[in-house]
Amino acid sequence: MKTKIIFLGLAGIAALLQFFPIDKTLPHSSPEQELQAVQHPPDAVFSLLKHACYDCHSNNTRYPWYANIQPLGWWIQDHIEHGRSELNFSEIGKWNEAERRDLLEHCARVIEKGMMPLNSYVRMHPEAKLDRRQKDMLMGWLLHPETMSKLVKQPINAAPDSCDGDNENIRCCFAGMPDSLTSAMVIAGANEPGERLVIKGQVFRRDGKTPYPGVLIYAYHTDMHGIYSKNGTETGIRKWHGRLHGWCRTDAEGRYSIQSIRPAPYPRSDGPAHIHEVVWEPGKDEPYYINETVFEDDVHVTERYRKNERGPGGSGTIDLKRGADGIWTGRRDITLK
Ligand code: HEC
Repeated sequence: MKTKIIFLGLAGIAALLQFFPIDKTLPHSSPEQELQAVQHPPDAVFSLLKHACYDCHSNNTRYPWYANIQPLGWWIQDHIEHGRSELNFSEIGKWNEAERRDLLEHCARVIEKGMMPLNSYVRMHPEAKLDRRQKDMLMGWLLHPETMSKLVKQPINAAPDSCDGDNENIRCCFAGMPDSLTSAMVIAGANEPGERLVIKGQVFRRDGKTPYPGVLIYAYHTDMHGIYSKNGTETGIRKWHGRLHGWCRTDAEGRYSIQSIRPAPYPRSDGPAHIHEVVWEPGKDEPYYINETVFEDDVHVTERYRKNERGPGGSGTIDLKRGADGIWTGRRDITLK
């Protein structure tokens, strides 16, 4: 009897709660303040953000049916209001450029750490769960919004052959770059003949100590015979740079790594063996070459060579050590101009 009364009492309270529905009116915002208008995300990126973040961080919330059941609806509404107050993609135009960059960088950080989207949300919306590739694509854009949008919009990505020449626009180095990048560049796999080489380092801003996240790096080099060897299927600028090339993007701490083989010097030349590197800083219009990476144990790396390392990126001369496993390892930290 007692349980019956308690049960009816609870049911009564639950029924009463239903008289206090949440207000599902969407806040008004102007189209020119929306993320699409202000930052022009590529479609693939925008669609991911919409599925994973927009219910709580925009004025375009899609309320689930159970938002009509109290107290669940209140709890959901609280998340949405709290989420919007932290970050509202529908009103991102309110912020100035530097503030927007900070916000987007912050998003990249919470995504990388797996803090967003909220776990409780992913449980109810499995389609919002981000896999590694989707995370990489989102982070690539969030850390590098202008550049990535440009790459996707401009024909250089869609038609690498428009970069068909040795002296084409330096942006052509980024034609054919995959959408999804990590901080690890793999130039040569296990099948490439030569001695294994791994270079690790960190990219810093001008002050030489602030880590620089989101910097794109493109690198290419000769094979173990000093030739920019080709597969024969290369298009665009790769007809000159060859098949030993790759890209990466520095992580939140500015770190990167390159895995390849040791290049050899050009035949019949007294220049050292080297790796060409091009960097593209977030928000900059043009990428640029930094000093080539060369090796201290190379007889061609002379005092005179070092004096002439005048390009950006600091000295490219690095010390290599060979481990018991036969792999050469070295470190190159890069301070950008
Ligand atoms: C279910 C609602 C919900 C979803 C979905 C969601 N967030 Fe959030 N987000 C919140 C709430 C609530 C807060 C504020 C409280 C907190 O930090 O936990 C927040 C805070 C944040 C913050 C500020 C955090 C801080 O530490 O200052 C960022 C940045 C953020 N979210 C980005 C995102 C991104 C990017 C996505 C999509 C990948 C996303 N969120 C998806 C609800 C959500």
